[in-house]
Amino acid sequence: MCGIVGYSGKQQAVRILLEGLSALEYRGYDSAGVSVFTDHGLCTTKSAGRLAFLAERLGERPLPGFCGIGHTRWATHGEPSDRNAHPHGTERVSLVHNGIIENYAELKAMLSGKGYLFETQTDTEVAAKTVDYCYDGDPIAAIRKACGMMEGSYAFGVLFADHPGKVYGTRLNSPLLAAVGEGEGFLASDISAVLSYTKNYYALEHGEIVTIDADGKITVTDMEGCPIEKELLTAQWDVEQAQKNGFDHFMRKEIFEQPTALYNTVHPRIIGGVPDFSHDGIAPGFFKDITRIQMVACGTASYAGCIGKNIIEKLARVPAEVDIASEFRYRDPILDPTQLVVVISQSGETADTLAALRLAKKQGVKTLAIVNVAGSTIAREADIVLYTYAGPEIAVASTKAYSVQTGVLYLLAIRVALEKGRIGEEKAKELVSGLLDAIEKTNAALLTDEAAKAMAAIMKDVEDCFFIGRGADFALCREGSLKLKEISYIHSEAYEAGELKHGTISLITDGVPVIALATQTALLPKTISNIKETRARGAQVLLICKESDEIGEDVYDHIIRLPDLDDLFAPITGVIPLQLMAYHTAVARGCDVDKPRNLAKSVTVE
Ligand code: M6R
Repeated sequence: MCGIVGYSGKQQAVRILLEGLSALEYRGYDSAGVSVFTDHGLCTTKSAGRLAFLAERLGERPLPGFCGIGHTRWATHGEPSDRNAHPHGTERVSLVHNGIIENYAELKAMLSGKGYLFETQTDTEVAAKTVDYCYDGDPIAAIRKACGMMEGSYAFGVLFADHPGKVYGTRLNSPLLAAVGEGEGFLASDISAVLSYTKNYYALEHGEIVTIDADGKITVTDMEGCPIEKELLTAQWDVEQAQKNGFDHFMRKEIFEQPTALYNTVHPRIIGGVPDFSHDGIAPGFFKDITRIQMVACGTASYAGCIGKNIIEKLARVPAEVDIASEFRYRDPILDPTQLVVVISQSGETADTLAALRLAKKQGVKTLAIVNVAGSTIAREADIVLYTYAGPEIAVASTKAYSVQTGVLYLLAIRVALEKGRIGEEKAKELVSGLLDAIEKTNAALLTDEAAKAMAAIMKDVEDCFFIGRGADFALCREGSLKLKEISYIHSEAYEAGELKHGTISLITDGVPVIALATQTALLPKTISNIKETRARGAQVLLICKESDEIGEDVYDHIIRLPDLDDLFAPITGVIPLQLMAYHTAVARGCDVDKPRNLAKSVTVE
C-alpha cells in the first residue's frame, strides 16, 4: 500500500527519495509527495497520480537539500488528490504516514477546539497536527506524546522545521526500518526502497522511535526516550532481484523465476531424503501430537492454503482447514492448544493475517508462519517461521510467492504424515522425490507460454468466463480466476466442476469461455462429463490437462498439455499456464500488468 522513504546525508535528498519511492511503486499508490529541508526552510511538493507527475513538478521547482521524507499514498480517507497526498503538516512539522488512525475523528474535534484548521479529509493531517500540538521543542517527546493519543496502525516519518538534517520515525502495526549507509541514513517502509544504497538495516519494533542525523548516525530509543541497542540486520535480497532484467514486466519475470524459487525453498529442507525443518528451529516430533491444522491467509496465499489442505489431509490424515483471514478473527473460531495455526503471507505484513496470528497466540495455540519477507511483522511474531525463498516479488499479482508457499506446504504435509506414522520413511522419500521431479518439470510447464498466449488472444475480448475443476484442480481454478480478474479486469468465477449444474450452468451460453482444469487423472472421467455439459450449451472450452491423458477432440476447443506427473504433484505445474494466460490477456488488453488498478501489493489495513 503506501510507501515511506526518508533520507539524511550528503546527497541530494529529492533524487534519493524519488528513487526509493519508485522502488516502492509496486506496492500500489495513487499520489505522492516529498518534504525537504532547503535553504528556505522546510518545503513540500505533492502530486496526485504517478510519481512521474511529482518528478515533473520537482523538475520545474527544484527542492535542493540533503534531508527529507517522501511518500506514496494509497487513498483510505479522502480521494487521491494533490491536497490529500502526504506529507501533511504545519509550519513546524511535516509528516508521512502508512496505516490508519482509527480515532482521528475525535482527535480532529479536539484539535479544532484548540484552533487547528484542517484542509483535508485525511487521518494523516490529524496525525501531523497532533504531533504539532504535542511539540514544545523536543521532537521525541512530541512523537511519544502524540502516539499515546493515537489509536490504529501507523508508521510515521517526521521532520521538525527547527531540527534541520534530522529525520524521525516510529511505528505501530505497520512496518518501518532505518537503513545504514556510509555517512548517510535512510528511513523506509520496505528495504527494497534503499537496496541500491545499502543492505544493512534496523527493523523497528512497535513503539520505538528512530532519529537519523545529518551524518547518517542512527539512534533508536524506546517511548521513554531510553536508548536501545538494535541488532543490525542484512537484507538477503539484491538490487538486481528487484529489477526486470530484460523482461517486459515483473510479473513475467517472476513467473519464469518459479523453478529456481521452488528449488531454493524446498531443497535446503530435505535432509536424508525426507523433509526436515530442524534448521528452521522445529525439533523432530513437533508435529506428532497435532490434531488439526488451521491455515489462515488472504487472496492468493489462501489458495496456496487450499492446495495445502488437500495434500495434508490426503497424506497425513489430519483435518486441515483454510480460513480467509478477514473472516477468521470475527467468526469466534474454535481453537485449542493441540492444533497448529499456519498463517501464510508473502509480505508478512497483511493486516488481517497478522490479526489472525495474534488471535491464535492469545488463545494459546502454536503458530507457524510461511513468509517470504525476512524480518516482517508476521515473521517476527509467529512462534515458528518457515521462510520461502522466492526473492522480492514486485508485481502486485502474486505468482512465485504462491508457488513457494505450496512447496513448503508439500514438505509440511509429508513431514506431518511421517511424524504421525501415517507413512514410513521409504514412502516419505518417494514423495520427496516426486516433489523434486515436479519442481524440475516447472521448466517444461513454462514452455506452455506460446499456447497460453494463443488462449489469451481469445480471452482478451471477453468480459466473463468460468474456471472449472475438481479436487486440487478446483483450488487451482480459484487462483487462476483471481489472477485473471486482478490484472485483466475480466470477470471470472471459479466453480467446482460438479457444482455448475446446481445453478451456474444457466450462465453458460454460446461462446462463453470455460477454462477447464483436468490435471487429476483419477477424476478425469467425471471432469470430462462436466466439461461436456458446458460444451453442449455452447461453451468455448479451453482445456488444461496432462500430456498422456487421452481426451477426445469433442471435449475441447483449445488445449494445453502439461508434463505428466502424479495427481498429487500436478498442482505445482498446473498453475503456470493459468498465470501465463492471465499475463498475456492483461498485456493484450493494454492493462497495467504489474500495477493493476485499485490494488496494493501489501494490504496493511483491515
Ligand atoms: O502478502 P500476502 O501474501 O499476505 O498477501 C495476500 C494477498 O493480498 C495477495 O495474495 C493478493 O491476493 C495478491 N494480489 C494476489 O495476486
